[in-house]
Amino acid sequence: MCGIVGIASKNNCIDNILSGLYSLEYRGYDSSGLATIKNNHFEYSKNIGKISNLQKSVKNNKLTGNVVIAHTRWATHGKPSIKNCHPFIKDNCVLVHNGIIENYTDLINYYSIKQKNIKSDTDTEIIAEIYNKLLNEFNNPIEAIKNLNKKIVGSFSFAFLVHGSKSIYVTRRGSPLVLGSGEGFNAVSSDVLGLPDNTKEIIFLEENDIAEVNDSSILIYDKNQIIKREKHKFIPKKEFKVKGNYKHFMEKEIFHQPISIEDTILNFADKKRKVVYLPKTNIKFNEFSNIIIVACGTAYHSCMVAKYWIEEMTDFNVSIDIASEYRYRKNKVNKNSFGIVVSQSGETMDTLKCLNKFKKNNIFTISIVNVLNSSIARLSDFILPTLAGPEIGVASTKAFTSQLSVLALFVLNLQQGSKNINKIFFNSIFSIHKSVKEILKKENEFKKIAKKLVDTKSIFYIGRGAMYPIALEGALKLKEITYKHCEGYAAGELKHGPLALIENNIPVIVLAPFDENYSKLLSNIQEVKARGGRIIMITDRDGAKKVKKYCDQIVIIPKTNFLTSPILYSIPVQLIAYYLAVFLGTDVDQPRNLAKSVTVE
Ligand code: AGP
Repeated sequence: MCGIVGIASKNNCIDNILSGLYSLEYRGYDSSGLATIKNNHFEYSKNIGKISNLQKSVKNNKLTGNVVIAHTRWATHGKPSIKNCHPFIKDNCVLVHNGIIENYTDLINYYSIKQKNIKSDTDTEIIAEIYNKLLNEFNNPIEAIKNLNKKIVGSFSFAFLVHGSKSIYVTRRGSPLVLGSGEGFNAVSSDVLGLPDNTKEIIFLEENDIAEVNDSSILIYDKNQIIKREKHKFIPKKEFKVKGNYKHFMEKEIFHQPISIEDTILNFADKKRKVVYLPKTNIKFNEFSNIIIVACGTAYHSCMVAKYWIEEMTDFNVSIDIASEYRYRKNKVNKNSFGIVVSQSGETMDTLKCLNKFKKNNIFTISIVNVLNSSIARLSDFILPTLAGPEIGVASTKAFTSQLSVLALFVLNLQQGSKNINKIFFNSIFSIHKSVKEILKKENEFKKIAKKLVDTKSIFYIGRGAMYPIALEGALKLKEITYKHCEGYAAGELKHGPLALIENNIPVIVLAPFDENYSKLLSNIQEVKARGGRIIMITDRDGAKKVKKYCDQIVIIPKTNFLTSPILYSIPVQLIAYYLAVFLGTDVDQPRNLAKSVTVE
């Protein structure tokens, strides 16, 4: 997918533009360029290959500018070359574009575009030529865009410079654009990562919105009038490195999840168009039949959840493995596979070695990472970023729910590629962050559960289906930061041995959405109860009606579905572990014996 960055500033903003382009590298590209308007003249630099090549050209040309638009190109029409590089410069305007214009040949005829004016093989230059012509006709950049949008078939996000103006003009349909505002500047980008770090507020443009952005104002138009769009707070990277009003980074990161989950989802899903759009690649995922997913620790639990989703929602064969095991297996890799690695840090040695093993087997590699310039990201063929923001606490929380969010979107994307996307699941992802907020408001109920665990010697988590990996995650969280012995089990496994550990007052925390596994879970609860175990239930309203008489403690959380349950039930297990660690006085953010990134074997 191409990347767009634009800044209209009171000062020279070339450096911010370049760092914005670097932040968009993950989207995949083969060339890049930028243009500015200075003393009513257009100046520009373009280059193929890495952004560092563009940076050299900018330096050699001593290019500076206060109003700049820039682009990383992933070739769709026309091979990677300087002539096909954006921006496209015409007499009256400059254009960068992300998306595909399906009817560009019809437009050539409709607007009587002279072929001699077209120097590239791209659909984008046709649009630049048309807009150049419309500016002569309308002499109004906004009206010219309105006319243009009516005629285009396809997906686009455009950023224009216009002769005689110090504004950037943008519009989008089917390809995201986000606006950012800060002290002395306003910015546009294909996604949040491309915005300057001193951005204060962001606005996600909606379909067919048009905006005029200059160094002191943003005006947004729909078809007929100036409108207001919802503003979101932008959180710069440096803010993640301070605890603020929180006692621990882990607490801050748990409570950041409504934002991190929403940011991650909005980066890939368009509610209005009901589509998941991933960074562009030549690969057609649905031409494969096998998926291999590997990771370590918490990240591996996200792989386990993904296996349930993939098996239920697609026709793929999926195998998952712990990276430290997979890397030494003498397994045969089916050529019709692609490999996924999941890693918050992007530096975990075992996971990195598995990525190398995928590449040695010539299979396409995807990485789901939270650190975009990490070793794993740089080595992968395709990156799906989690937008959780830097995670400081050793115990992974917001990165985990963002990993689950990306995997859920990836599975929905596989589904939309082969059959109808599950609309109920798709629509539910846009309200996950609200349900997370509701669960976080019950923090005192989870504190009460934690309080009663202070003197226990062993704790059990159980769950069925996609709740089993969350039971493992809950147990891992407790082990990591409370140093208590805790086991997570598939509930159906208890009778195959672990039940021998259940004795009077041993706490068993049951993750129990009211779903098709619920009735079987009831019998597991009775098995525990009959042996004196203490039942702590995390369930929803319907589940609660059935088990009140068996429960010693119960917390009711919002209703979920097969796709959203693992994400939502992660929050209670994080809170229980956090509050128990606080009661026990352990080092929550830097627990003993552990490191945030395990770069050793
Ligand atoms: C999670 O709470 C742990 N800190 C640990 O299991 C972690 O998930 C694992 O080391 C993998 O790290 P990564 O996601 O950075 O690869």
